[in-house]
Amino acid sequence: MIDFSLTDEQKQLQQLARDFARREIMPIASEYDRLEEVPWQIVEKAHELGLLNACIPEHAGGLGLGMFDECLIGEELAYGCMGIYTVLMASELGITPILVGGSEEQQRRFLAPMTLKPSLAAFALSEPNNGSDAAAMHTTAVLEGDEWVINGSKMWISNGGKAEVTVVFATTDRQGGHKASVAIVVEGMPAGMSANKIKHKMGQRASHTAELVFENVRVPAANVLGDLGDGFKIAMKTLDKTRVPVAAGSVGIARRALEESVKYSKEREAFGKPVASFQAIQFKMAEMLMGIETGRLMTWKAAWLVDQGLPHGVESSIAKAYASEMAFDEANEAIQIHGGYGYVGEYPVEKLLRDVKLNQIYEGTNEIQRVVIARSLLK
Ligand code: CAA
Repeated sequence: MIDFSLTDEQKQLQQLARDFARREIMPIASEYDRLEEVPWQIVEKAHELGLLNACIPEHAGGLGLGMFDECLIGEELAYGCMGIYTVLMASELGITPILVGGSEEQQRRFLAPMTLKPSLAAFALSEPNNGSDAAAMHTTAVLEGDEWVINGSKMWISNGGKAEVTVVFATTDRQGGHKASVAIVVEGMPAGMSANKIKHKMGQRASHTAELVFENVRVPAANVLGDLGDGFKIAMKTLDKTRVPVAAGSVGIARRALEESVKYSKEREAFGKPVASFQAIQFKMAEMLMGIETGRLMTWKAAWLVDQGLPHGVESSIAKAYASEMAFDEANEAIQIHGGYGYVGEYPVEKLLRDVKLNQIYEGTNEIQRVVIARSLLK
């Protein structure tokens, strides 16, 4: 049976996230974009409100929210600022491999401390020389006695170096392909681990992105998730889920682009009347609403499949690619509707375009999403 109505609890959660975005995130978003810093007070408040790491299961002391609820939150937070939302979203990306591949004991050990104070997680898969070809990783993990010794570097890591828990994907044999991959939980910043902040990003500047370097980093053998050789599959199963919140965030950006456009077009006059009275503007905004509704439907479907435990990889890729491309086009149209004012920072729409570009790239480029979708057609 299909039902698009939200429960009272979901409406409350949505309202909580909406109020948080409007009261706390929107007033500081452009300042932190300029500073290129994470607003830690937002992370702290999100923790207080239960909006941070809400996917941590109840047996590990968390709220155990499902993907659908996460997407309700994500759309609202990204409406406020996609960069700030990425700080929170990337933390859940870092937690998810522990949910996918970790034992209950590991989930309790690594995640319960994260529920007690504002904490972030990170997901370290991409490397300086391989992103889309994730199985070709060069970072090595060698078992010495009861410790893993990790060497190599990871690139484009959201929350990298700021995280309490980082899941590092590595290989035990560079010739062994994905069958030699491991997923290892690194707590804090042990000796030999360092982070180099990546500056001057085009957008999402309130999110911290770093290169992580590992030089003989020693981690207990018990920190490996699943069996030896499972690392790549844990990464893939994680991304199958976490691409859905990227789609939700994209819908939030598109909604912001439309609402800013409606507001501006009613205020701005040309030829003696508000520009909203011209069909050239009305049709753009009508199409923006069509894109938002379609993107949200696909996002909700993918989230629902995740929550039902049904196959969801293809739908997650469709939602991520569709919603991020739709939102990119809509941010672009919002600038067009704002004319010259859209091109400068005085209005929020130029930031929307800079921010949303990344949604087409991270958690798998949209070309990789098409690989996943096409393979499902041809297998
Ligand atoms: N679930 C479970 N298993 C999977 C799987 C999935 N979704 N996808 C593949 N596998 C399994 C296959 O069944 C196969 O298993 P067997 O050998 O036992 O049969 C194995 O994994 C290898 O599969 P493929 O041969 O299909 O793998 P591939 O090398 O061709 O790669 C790919 C497939 C889809 C291109 C994959 O490499 C991919 O998704 N790349 C993109 C990576 C990505 O999204 N990176 C983003 C990093 S996160 C980020 O952006 C940073 C941040 O901080 C936000």
